[in-house]
Amino acid sequence: MGLVRYLQPRVEGDLRPLLDDHAWLHQVADALGSPLNLVLPEQVARNVEQFRRVLAAHHLSGGVYFAHKANRSHALVRALAGAGSGIDVASLGELQHALGAGFTPERIMATGPKSREYLWLAARSGVIVNADSVAELSGLAAIVATHGLPTVRVMARLSGFAGTGTTVLSRASRFGIPATGAGPLWDVLDKHRDQLDFLGVAYHLDTVGLPEKAAALEGCLTAMDEAGQRGLNPRAIDIGGGFGLNYLADATEWESWTTELTSAVLGRRPPLTWNGHGYGLRNEGGTVRGALSVYPAHRSVAGPDYLDTLLRTESALYRRPLGTLVLDHLYDLYAEPGRALLDQCGAVLLRVEQVGDDGRGETLVRVAGNGTDVGLEQHGVLMDPILVPRGDPQPGGPAGVYLTGNLCLEADLITRRKVFLPSRPQPGDLLVFANTAGYLMDFSAGGALMQPTARTIAAYRAGDAWRWCLDDGYWPVTGREEIG
Ligand SMILES: Cc1ncc(COP(=O)(O)O)c(C=O)c1O
Repeated sequence: MGLVRYLQPRVEGDLRPLLDDHAWLHQVADALGSPLNLVLPEQVARNVEQFRRVLAAHHLSGGVYFAHKANRSHALVRALAGAGSGIDVASLGELQHALGAGFTPERIMATGPKSREYLWLAARSGVIVNADSVAELSGLAAIVATHGLPTVRVMARLSGFAGTGTTVLSRASRFGIPATGAGPLWDVLDKHRDQLDFLGVAYHLDTVGLPEKAAALEGCLTAMDEAGQRGLNPRAIDIGGGFGLNYLADATEWESWTTELTSAVLGRRPPLTWNGHGYGLRNEGGTVRGALSVYPAHRSVAGPDYLDTLLRTESALYRRPLGTLVLDHLYDLYAEPGRALLDQCGAVLLRVEQVGDDGRGETLVRVAGNGTDVGLEQHGVLMDPILVPRGDPQPGGPAGVYLTGNLCLEADLITRRKVFLPSRPQPGDLLVFANTAGYLMDFSAGGALMQPTARTIAAYRAGDAWRWCLDDGYWPVTGREEIG
């Protein structure tokens, strides 16, 4: 037991009773196969409300735009449309999906790399275009002028923010216009006033580091001043996503696992990972070098609380809380949470196919699914699945096992981390990864080796009972009979 290092998932809200209902889980997996995705559209609608409450508590107007890329589910996107949320789309396909799900154009923000077709549909339908470069803005202006389209509301994504000194604080990004040299941006906006209505500036940083985010928001406030001085009339700041999600139930399990990983890399304890993989750490002559490059799976401040903390953070430059500065200027504040908005909104079910030993003392558990069906490795998220036995659990106590997938590839592990379960699984059992709706479900699922990809079902409440339907059959009216 001393060698057991659980990383138990945090399971809350409606996901808890569903994942506790083992008979129901087996029933749906028997009917629809493995892998199987489960989403909870009503939960996402509640989550958006939590973010909105933070904006309201800071007396800020603006809105929440769900970063669609985090999940392809129709049910989740339609539930958000029904809940009055905004949506951040990052491709032509996502824009079409959002329009078809019921989002009206004023609630859609088009981000990401943009083809001419994507720009045309964005302009034609009147959504906000959040541009990555000056060239994109001139291209958009040309499309608007040539095709006689109405003026488009645009935002400009900035990157490379300086701190209070001259040091650039934010990490290098391939997206965005340099915040410290925005002259060409103001020129293009000035030149194309008839085609482009400049709403304001934006950032999205691929980090949950608060100092970087605070420097970026401060940089946006400075840029808004600059734009005002150039005679533009900016009125909104978009602070992107990256509010983080707390995957684990217990902070001490996370601390202890990361400490033990270091010991394992040094060879001071049996490996905790496949072939001694160090997740960025390595042993150089008895000293650990490198940096742990995984998602910080336990987070004490995440999601709406993170937004609140950011807005309370004092600007080093302006000596006032960032939220107060936004309010004083009467700017709208937009946020684009992806992962955080999907907290407790889904799970992936995998059936155990085979359990065996690898001849080196390790237990291998092969599941009906693969590493593209649950993107733990791709996104660096480490957590244990929940074991849902079909019959009585095996005696013998906790088991540390490696989960292998159904691809005929050495590299196909569901996670290179040894996962810990309360008992040894058996064929026919289910392993359920909780809280996978954000990026860990269908982000990169593909049909490699013609293996089946997961079906997705939406579970929703009908009075006291739970019901489910196929993902593409769910709409916000499903299961609710209006009395008229
Ligand atoms: C422009 C933009 N906004 C929002 C997000 C969502 O980030 P997260 O899921 O970390 O909240 C992303 C993610 O890549 C993004 O690129």
